Amino acid sequence: MTDEIPHRLRSQDWFDNPDHADMTALYLERFMNYGTTPEELRSGRPIIGIAQSGSDLNPCNRHHLDLARRVRDGIRDAGGIAIEFPSHPLFENCKRPTAALDRNLAYLGLVELLYGYPFDGVVLTTGCDKTTPSAIMAAATVDIPAIVLSGGPMLDGWHEGKLAGSGTVIWQSRRKYAAGEITRDEFLQTALDSAPSIGHCNTMGTASTMNAIAEALGMSLTGCAAIPAAYRERGQIAYRTGLRAVEIVREDLRPSKILTRAAFLNAIRVNSAIGGSTNAQPHLMAMAKHAGVALEPSDWQTHGYDIPLLANIQPAGAYLGERFHRAGGVPAIMWELLKAGKLDGGCATITGRTMAENLQGREATDREVIHPFEAPLMDRAGFMVLKGNLFDFAIMKTSVISDEFRTRYLARPGHEGVFEGTAFVFDGSDDYHDRINDPDLPIDENSILVIRGAGPLGWPGSAEVVNMQPPDRLLKQGIRSLPTIGDGRQSGTADSPSILNASPESAAGGGLAFLRTGDRIRIDLKHGRCDMLVSEAEIAQRMGGGLPPVPPSATPWQRIYRETVTQLDDGATIRGADEFRQIANKPPRH
Ligand code: FES
Ligand code: MG
Repeated sequence: MTDEIPHRLRSQDWFDNPDHADMTALYLERFMNYGTTPEELRSGRPIIGIAQSGSDLNPCNRHHLDLARRVRDGIRDAGGIAIEFPSHPLFENCKRPTAALDRNLAYLGLVELLYGYPFDGVVLTTGCDKTTPSAIMAAATVDIPAIVLSGGPMLDGWHEGKLAGSGTVIWQSRRKYAAGEITRDEFLQTALDSAPSIGHCNTMGTASTMNAIAEALGMSLTGCAAIPAAYRERGQIAYRTGLRAVEIVREDLRPSKILTRAAFLNAIRVNSAIGGSTNAQPHLMAMAKHAGVALEPSDWQTHGYDIPLLANIQPAGAYLGERFHRAGGVPAIMWELLKAGKLDGGCATITGRTMAENLQGREATDREVIHPFEAPLMDRAGFMVLKGNLFDFAIMKTSVISDEFRTRYLARPGHEGVFEGTAFVFDGSDDYHDRINDPDLPIDENSILVIRGAGPLGWPGSAEVVNMQPPDRLLKQGIRSLPTIGDGRQSGTADSPSILNASPESAAGGGLAFLRTGDRIRIDLKHGRCDMLVSEAEIAQRMGGGLPPVPPSATPWQRIYRETVTQLDDGATIRGADEFRQIANKPPRH
């Protein structure tokens, strides 16, 4: 096999290094105790890591434990040797105070593994929200040949004859529960019904979004992202991914050749067309930074805002993962964009072909689910980027603006896109939950709910809390949503047009820190502004009072995270980590 590979393999520095015979013996001996032979390890075959993100602690990715068998088969058939190892679990729904805290930890861990062990390439097994960006961030940093294998979404959920999508049904049910329309047991049942099989969230939440983005970046095989976890095609693409993992080592096809600025701009456009998660913004920024690609926060507005919504999937649309896959999935979306001249088809991809070559003829087969570019579900459906004296950067997901919200706030004759309201400020989500239903709070339909202390420093990790629902009494009157602003995030499955990811956050001295309940806020979507109508002199005086308090760090990592993390506009990355690029080119010391 060696003679097929035009370059010396990285793993040979461990297993076949005449200058370090003693170390080679040590490196070899313990791999053999589960039956691997020295001949295999010294045969010059590529050693392919399988970064295993599945475990009992990561249920969304757990089936990767089984898929890895097919990946191994592919690696073996292509002449490689598989070494599977666990990556740090990232279970979105369960990790407190938030899985976002652990994304950078998983990144750090994977960098150490990919750099410090004898890998020539790696299969990145992804699924639940942050498993995808953390893995790509690490592979980009080390820059060894890497291919993404998504786990795929769960089968479609059904409740009482209606589609019940992950997360989205919970946001809908909690409104009905608060309005007294369903019981607590019915609320719980809708959630259970939304999860009928193995796989990650079946809505276009953060998991499906990030896997679609991995494919849009060119890091996975064409069509990989949307295959439901339980379909036979999932096992088949796992096998093909294993095969390809060996070939990319032979071709020396590294992330740095794929993760270009053009690829990231493609991903931004795809995110708009699928109605993707607002979490894509910090994650894409983080991946770009670690790939050494200059991406600006304004790129979301410049390149993404004008793109129409094509995918009719919850939360922005009606359907779920199975229908999306059968309609053609991510390639059909990208084919629409390519035909419309909205995609750079020249980008290199993991298949060895260009993106345009991968996409040729991938016409959607179900126009109810994937709309043609000329007849979208919504025009200009990307994220709007806002700034003002409350923050330098925040985004608003326009594809989930409901007709009710549009009519009440955005379409008043003579004031289109501009509205003013009275701030009601909560310090963190406990404060919100404790007080929102206090009957004495003067919250009405002219209120703007604001939450702070929810950013990377404040929470810490940045919480998915900005999609605050109105008080129960307003819900009972049919007011289903109020404008919300915050320095945290919201779930990708949320159907709220919140103004979120505000940077700098309150805990970093952003304007939200100096806002008070009762202040007027003016939101001007036409000019991308969001301001508190408070004089500069008054703001300066309030600054003298310091910042709202945040909870102390509860674990060592929380403190290290806070000492190193940047703001959401910058991807909430580890400050300075992007200086460590392409480190696979500098082999570690023995
Ligand atoms: Fe894991 Fe949604 S909670 S994918
Ligand atoms: Mg989430």
